[in-house]
Amino acid sequence: MWLTAIRVRAEMVVGAMVSSWALIALVTAIFQGEHATVASRLKARLTTSDTQRHALRILRLVWPNLVLSERFVKAYDNTGTVLVSRASDVTEMLDREADFAVVYEPKMRAITGGGNFFLGMQDSADYQCHVSNMRVAVRRDDLARILVPLAARLGAEIVTSCAGRIDVPAQLTRRLPALLVAEYFGTPGPSEAKLIEWCEALFWYLFIDLAGEQRIAGAALRAGQEFCAYLDAAIAARKTDPGPRDDILARCLAMQAADLPGMDDLSIRNNLFGLLIGFVPTLAKASVNALAQLVDRPEQLAGARRAALADDDAALAAHVFEALRFDPINPVIYRRATRDTTIAHGTPRGRRVAKGMMVMGANLSAMFDPMKLDDPDAFRTDRPWGDYMLWGYGMHNCFGAHINRAVMPQILKPLLRREHLRRSPGAAGRVDLAGGPYPAHWILEFVS
Ligand code: HEM
Repeated sequence: MWLTAIRVRAEMVVGAMVSSWALIALVTAIFQGEHATVASRLKARLTTSDTQRHALRILRLVWPNLVLSERFVKAYDNTGTVLVSRASDVTEMLDREADFAVVYEPKMRAITGGGNFFLGMQDSADYQCHVSNMRVAVRRDDLARILVPLAARLGAEIVTSCAGRIDVPAQLTRRLPALLVAEYFGTPGPSEAKLIEWCEALFWYLFIDLAGEQRIAGAALRAGQEFCAYLDAAIAARKTDPGPRDDILARCLAMQAADLPGMDDLSIRNNLFGLLIGFVPTLAKASVNALAQLVDRPEQLAGARRAALADDDAALAAHVFEALRFDPINPVIYRRATRDTTIAHGTPRGRRVAKGMMVMGANLSAMFDPMKLDDPDAFRTDRPWGDYMLWGYGMHNCFGAHINRAVMPQILKPLLRREHLRRSPGAAGRVDLAGGPYPAHWILEFVS
């Protein structure tokens, strides 16, 4: 056992040295480059998952819990920043929700016109009531009965109509979650495009914009008002004319009719609002990130294709989620310390964390920590599910976790079945974020 510990530490040292050289080479190339400004080249390269993984590999060895007085997050009040990079410390931080609390409440209240959503709550009667109600409405057995066949059918229809060339986000990955929401939740929005626009604007403001940019807040507040008004109207219309549907909206209203606590109109609206914001941009972006990793790995792409052709959904999922591990949609999950405390107490890496500090738990780093995973830099399809932290951990672990595991492989399956799937030549074959945080265009070609 101690031999293993020595080997892992030796690998960490060598890995950190390799990553230091890689980062030095990268920064040198950025300063010597000729296209665009140094600042924009820095931003483009330093925000890639590859670069982040190099930096995190060094941190795990040298400063596993890095405490800084600098306030990097401007969007929420705080007194400094802590970056947590070892898997055991990231899980400790997310497990201790009384000490490290979610910060989203003020933004949730701003976009709903007053109400909170359960991701903005700490453990409380309200949190448990709302999350439990939504689990009764969004049922695990809907996966096999409704969501998986629906995603498979819609995905196949889209890809079949593409004749050998597809703009992945525009035609498939942004559209499909919105189509699922329309059918499964019974809330299609005024149009597919509007629903996507609202969810993306709100998700950007709530979770991605740590700089607190005014234009992002402005767009989200407008989207919030319109989206809430739409949901209020959809609830009222359904009450007037319930029809025969069995969707999430219908189930919520049935629970209201049965007098369940926390199922008044406003709570239903705020819960649907939060779930839809969590549903649409996440599945869309995660699908692109995973596919982009696969497309650049011929052997693994061939493995995913074999699994897709054989309808071996477990093997397909193993390829898709291992790919996503290399580029999850969020490299960190953040909280704020509610009191002075210590992280990794009783270990040499233990650090004091002052009340009010923003604590960034690097889930990307946790999924590459050799103290937790075997051979973390290798692409392997035999990892235990516990090695993954793709959508959170602890009390606020993603509400849609089971949906993600079942639906994401179905979104990608029709494309992965195609022969000679490849990036289109030139700029069109690179993921285009169109100035925002979400993939907007990315052309792939295949034998149709
Ligand atoms: C691949 C797709 C997805 C990813 C990567 C993802 C990511 C995440 C992450 C990282 C968290 C934790 C946030 C935190 O702790 O601060 C989370 C929580 C949450 N997600 Fe997702 N998500 C995805 C899909 C979904 C879907 C489909 C839904 C809706 C059905 C959803 C609804 C939620 C909700 C409601 C929470 C809060 C749970 C709670 O507070 O108990 N997400 N998600």
